[in-house]
Amino acid sequence: MTARFITLEGGEGVGKSTQISRLSDAFTDAGIDHIVTREPGGSAGAEAIRKLLMEGSDDRWNARAEALLFAAARADHVAKTILPALERGAWVICDRYVDSTRAYQGGGGGLSDTDVMALHRIGSDGLLPDRTFLLTLAPDKAAARLSVRDVGGSDRMGSKSSEYQARLNQRFLAMAAEDPARWRVIDADDSAEQVTQHIWQELTPWLS
Ligand code: TMP
Repeated sequence: MTARFITLEGGEGVGKSTQISRLSDAFTDAGIDHIVTREPGGSAGAEAIRKLLMEGSDDRWNARAEALLFAAARADHVAKTILPALERGAWVICDRYVDSTRAYQGGGGGLSDTDVMALHRIGSDGLLPDRTFLLTLAPDKAAARLSVRDVGGSDRMGSKSSEYQARLNQRFLAMAAEDPARWRVIDADDSAEQVTQHIWQELTPWLS
């Protein structure tokens, strides 16, 4: 079996963390070597950059500076964590990746997709996941989940309006439509168990 690089994407409150932990349990039960990681972060250097990105006032960085910081964090994460895991034959399950930069910094911040992908080529040799799952949920439902969790707006990346979240969803969906070979769109309004099953079914051709 070839180890694959899997990412989960989507707006806030769509249930990525829950799904990643459930997927990790499923990989463990199936006896498949894997790592779980996240962005921004996932390596010592990238976690240090994460703090720069997540803390401080909303206007601490503009979209261009943010995109460079995300690309720098990703370069370290890819070199120190993702590639070594894949090289030793472990699957990589990652919470967000370059598609988040394309959606968040690219869409709203006046940076083109070509610019974001140029930074990704320089930083991470353009490494793309084998499969990206986009979890979709109506913005009002995502907001309701976040208010239960009480984490929405708790850091400088998380304090976005529901209009922003709706535009973000559209950008993610457009990226998924452009590259259907890599992306799978998953309805996150189902129960957590059903969502995991759906993702797992999509992976089964690669699991034997
Ligand atoms: P999360 O831990 O809830 O996924 O938070 C990460 C935040 O950082 C989230 O608001 C999305 C944002 N983000 C970007 O804006 N660009 C990126 O490239 C990444 C990886 C995350």
